[in-house]
Amino acid sequence: MIHSPPSANIQLTADGRLKHFLSIEGLPRSLLEEILDGAASFVEVGDRSIKKVPLLRGKTVVNLFFEPSTRTRSTFELAAKRLSADVLNIDIAKSATSKGETLMDMLWNLEAMASDMFIVRHSDSGAPFFIANHVTPQVAVINAGDGRHAHPTQAMLDMYTIRHYKGGFEGLKVAIIGDVLHSRVARSQIHALNILGAEEVRVIAPKTLLPKDIESLGVSVYTDLASGLRDVDVVIALRLQKERMDSALLPSEGEFYRLYGLNNERLRPAKPDAIVMHPGPINRGVEIASEVADGPRSVILHQVTFGIAVRMAVMSMSISGQESGL
Ligand code: CP
Repeated sequence: MIHSPPSANIQLTADGRLKHFLSIEGLPRSLLEEILDGAASFVEVGDRSIKKVPLLRGKTVVNLFFEPSTRTRSTFELAAKRLSADVLNIDIAKSATSKGETLMDMLWNLEAMASDMFIVRHSDSGAPFFIANHVTPQVAVINAGDGRHAHPTQAMLDMYTIRHYKGGFEGLKVAIIGDVLHSRVARSQIHALNILGAEEVRVIAPKTLLPKDIESLGVSVYTDLASGLRDVDVVIALRLQKERMDSALLPSEGEFYRLYGLNNERLRPAKPDAIVMHPGPINRGVEIASEVADGPRSVILHQVTFGIAVRMAVMSMSISGQESGL
């Protein structure tokens, strides 16, 4: 752990506009709705032959991924380019941090190149908060996933997907299945669903893959898949995070699939029109069968596409909030 996340207020300007986007927790519903509405206006840009708008022309966005990523890194880069920003992708393995330069020295050097925004993924919970607390006021910081803590833009693209397919959040029952213990995505989704007014958020997992205080986040807890899926509108499977897992937490992947793996038969208790989501990357045959991942209820690849528009909305709001506060 680099730093304990302080109050979420660091994310907002004095008049309540988005400045840094670090965590969903503590943000008002109106701001989450502003992100969703902003994203709706950017979806159409992706359908144009020239996929560009000039909102971030002249701005410099730096991708700082200290952990591997396919979806988040690529869609942030595409989002920045579609907003006409200049994009620097720092190859951390080849950066001077491998020669002993500290994180903050690296960031101060990037600031000296007149960067306007840092997109940060880090294995340490709190790293983007630490950076936001130490950068100059001209730089906006966006959390692209920190440790087990938060993945706010993933949660917002998931909320966009749910709103797109279900029309809103009122009356919705949402089930999140699997490795909640290690999942920054699940934590951010739970906060977002509760703020946006979903009727019920359920988590379904073996006790060993649930954080001890999970009920305090406002969820119903199920250890049985069939009961947890009864009458839900949205099913979200989580990746089993083998790289963060102590082997004592799980007997085997085969045992996990036998009890919690999603296949067509196990989806029966959900509503007939329930959608199936997954943040990716998926482990086929572990948390989800190919017949579901590639089947008619799956919206997994649409989540990825919507992610570009959602990240365009977050980046443009953040730069605008940043400029208003200077
Ligand atoms: N969903 C997600 O964060 O995927 P990546 O690790 O590929 O960015």
